[in-house]
Amino acid sequence: MAILLPGGAGYIGSHTAVELLNKGVEIVIIDNFSNSKPKVLEAIKKITKKDFKFYEMDYGNKEKLEKVFEENKIDSVINFAGFKAVGESVKKPIEYYKNNISGCLVLLETMKKYNVKKFIFSSSATVYGEPQKIPITEECKTGGTTNPYGTTKLYIEQILKDIYKSDESWDICILRYFNPVGAHESGLIGEEPQGIPNNLMPYIVRVASGELKELSVFGNDYPTHDGTGVRDYIHVVDLAKGHIKALEKIIKEQKGLFIYNLGTGTGYSVLDMVKAFEKTTNKKIPYKIVGRRQGDIAICYADPKKAKEELGWVATKTLEDMCLDSWNYLEKCPIGDVS
Ligand code: UD1
Repeated sequence: MAILLPGGAGYIGSHTAVELLNKGVEIVIIDNFSNSKPKVLEAIKKITKKDFKFYEMDYGNKEKLEKVFEENKIDSVINFAGFKAVGESVKKPIEYYKNNISGCLVLLETMKKYNVKKFIFSSSATVYGEPQKIPITEECKTGGTTNPYGTTKLYIEQILKDIYKSDESWDICILRYFNPVGAHESGLIGEEPQGIPNNLMPYIVRVASGELKELSVFGNDYPTHDGTGVRDYIHVVDLAKGHIKALEKIIKEQKGLFIYNLGTGTGYSVLDMVKAFEKTTNKKIPYKIVGRRQGDIAICYADPKKAKEELGWVATKTLEDMCLDSWNYLEKCPIGDVS
């Protein structure tokens, strides 16, 4: 029996693939390399010393997807496929809705056809919009997303709830990620955004390397301890381990539709991150304060209690680990090195 990972060559998918292989679980990866590189697959094999099947294809290609289900004994699916650049989604809403939603529907339809009904979905804290309360619990109201990327996550969550309502033999786990950062300690896999990064940590790393001149801090007039935005940064390896726990739950223990926040429960500001990065890596991060970025909220961090109680999962990596591993990945895998 194998676990299918659409988008398994991507940032979070590749780290989850490593954790699954290390547990001795068989996996099949499909990816079209739209935001990842073939060398990631070799890196996964190098880290785990294990092999797996791979198909280069769009996850929304029904014919090819059916072939994957014909050729493999798929037991469950963890879906990492999808476009994820917030700014780009505003400019290309049709592409985002088509790839993220239509692609996911083809995947779900194919799963149904082959009677594979265990599904884990990569959602995001972005579905909470302007949070009702802090820390954010899974019961908080969702909606009010500010960009098409976020809205695709919200809509897919609704689709999954409707599927479960129509047929309770599905087992579905929706994982709402907070802000994933860091990289595998080997430095062989990590996040490699194309072009100038939008997210904070990849930007800081490129300032540290001298590739970018300085960080623009988007606003210092938020109601936070130092005026800059506060987020729940979570190490990608902790996040990957959350998927293993979710899988164990829906495979072994309990049936149903479950939703979990995957965050640390601690909020750090932009300036906290800059200081932590400087301290752990000994690199200077020049920055300037600029105006607020449209669509940003002041504070967003998780109440991770439900995942702890029901999955037995807690994030264990520190802020120092997040900074060191992000930097280590850039040093070991300079831009353009992964081909
Ligand atoms: C963003 C997305 C979220 C997505 C997540 C992926 C929005 C509204 N949310 O979250 O949907 O799941 O990325 O990781 O876009 N910052 C700077 N300077 C920079 C970059 C960021 O000051 O150059 C600040 C931001 O204002 C924010 C914090 O750093 O306060 C984190 O920003 P970012 O890494 O982009 O993540 P989010 O906006 O929280």
